[in-house]
Amino acid sequence: MRSTDTLRQEHEHILQALSVLDALVDRAARSEPAPQADARALLAFFRDFADRSHHAKEENALFPALEARGLPRRGGPIGVMLAEHDEGRALLRALADTAALGEGEAARANFAGAARAYTSLLRAHIQKENEILFRMAERVLDVAEDERITSLFAEADAAALPPGERDRLLASVASLACTYR
Ligand SMILES: [Fe+2]
Repeated sequence: MRSTDTLRQEHEHILQALSVLDALVDRAARSEPAPQADARALLAFFRDFADRSHHAKEENALFPALEARGLPRRGGPIGVMLAEHDEGRALLRALADTAALGEGEAARANFAGAARAYTSLLRAHIQKENEILFRMAERVLDVAEDERITSLFAEADAAALPPGERDRLLASVASLACTYR
């Protein structure tokens, strides 16, 4: 499996989590808020899986390899992806802050606003990576370089998450997806 296949698979899990976030917002709009524990579990998935694990693989392994192959960081797709990762982190912090505000009407509206900004950013971002950046990567990386990137992914996961946590996060989001189908 190529390094980009791993990242594309992770995108599918993140897209599943974004659909759960949409469902939480819809429920809040109907004044049927979901249990706080579910919102907390979902935000933990975005923080620990999408950002600390997945984005770390891109930022610390794939992007530097592409730069070494001549793709410029500034003024090119890597720079755009990095800026969007930062934007996503800021929106995720806003989402966590608004989720902590509780149950009132204003809190629900703030949560919905932050959630919509986050989901639309991340969906567009994933589409750009899948359709533009990863295709470039598949053209420029040879097999040996790709294997080296895949081994760096394992190191990135070990640094980002305690043992077993990746599987626990994936199971948690799969279970939320069943609940909020
Ligand atoms: Fe990504």
